[in-house]
Amino acid sequence: MINGNKVLFSGMQATGNLTLGNYLGALKNWVDLADDYECYYSVVDMHSITVRQDPAVLRKRARALLTLYIAAGIDPEKNCLYYQSHVSGHAELAWILNCFTYMGELNRMTQFKDKAAKHTDNINAGLFTYPVLMAADILLYQADVVPVGIDQMQHLEITRDIAQRFNAVYGDVFTIPEAYVGKVGAKIMSLQDPAKKMSKSDENPNASIYLMDDADTIRRKCRRAVTDSEGAILYREEQPGVKNLLDIYCACSGKTPQEAVREFDGCGYGQLKDAVAEAVIAVLNPLQTRFRELEKDKGYIDGIIRTNAERAAYTANKTLRKVQKKIGFPERVR
Ligand code: TYM
Repeated sequence: MINGNKVLFSGMQATGNLTLGNYLGALKNWVDLADDYECYYSVVDMHSITVRQDPAVLRKRARALLTLYIAAGIDPEKNCLYYQSHVSGHAELAWILNCFTYMGELNRMTQFKDKAAKHTDNINAGLFTYPVLMAADILLYQADVVPVGIDQMQHLEITRDIAQRFNAVYGDVFTIPEAYVGKVGAKIMSLQDPAKKMSKSDENPNASIYLMDDADTIRRKCRRAVTDSEGAILYREEQPGVKNLLDIYCACSGKTPQEAVREFDGCGYGQLKDAVAEAVIAVLNPLQTRFRELEKDKGYIDGIIRTNAERAAYTANKTLRKVQKKIGFPERVR
């Protein structure tokens, strides 16, 4: 809570090309919730360097991501869109919270285990303490709600645990955040392997629909999506490929799974795939057009980056000073 307003915080990594999963699981909900909260949406570039990055590519992707937030419909005058690395409070609070987080807790994080298995040559300490930086992001802004996909739930839980542990010692310093997970789209699966989540880092380009894919590419990827040999369009766990297509369809069209099943009654998988493709294109097309327009307006984006970083830093510093005082760091002499 800040000045009586409920606060929303969320972020995305500027790593890889954003997928439809990122959009339906997170970005879309950010836009839907923006009017009801004081919102902070960060491009979490500090998290990105837990995996080795090419500096020029990271810089370019970070800017594209911030532009995409605006293209998706987040108003940068009303909401605070900024780069995590521009607000030093994230790193400062993360250090403090590291001292309130146990190795055993971090050892249980499934994302750490997955990423460590994938990057065996670079299992760095940052990858291990990644959830602590995420806790710092959220707690700095005293966030009440954090819209994320299901894959981030474990990180939200550890954030709550760290905040509660800190508050138990020092009083009510941090707001305890709640995750917000949408009813549909919270876990979009790979089009090639519906047992795996759709991911920016998947090596098979047919597994993911990228937000910048053109209409023909989207149609082709949908047509190639893995289904099953049942032949019936039903919304159930036994048909994960079909269920995923229905999830995508519902998240894009606003229909419920029951409505979609009724609509596709008697149809073949080919018809379902074509309908899914058209629903996705209808959502992504305006976003892509707006992105291309915004991208050209360098001065406008630069202005947003400058002013929003200042706004974010102001709020972040208020929490940071409070925390520093509570834990006994000496007061600044003016
Ligand atoms: P990231 O960048 O991997 O993903 C950004 C958001 O997209 C969601 N998401 C999905 N949702 C549905 N289906 C999928 N297949 C799918 N893939 C990704 C994620 O759940 C996420 O909401 N650690 C975070 C970024 C972060 C953050 C934070 C988020 C850093 N600090 C503080 C919230 C609050 C991450 O790597 O997300």
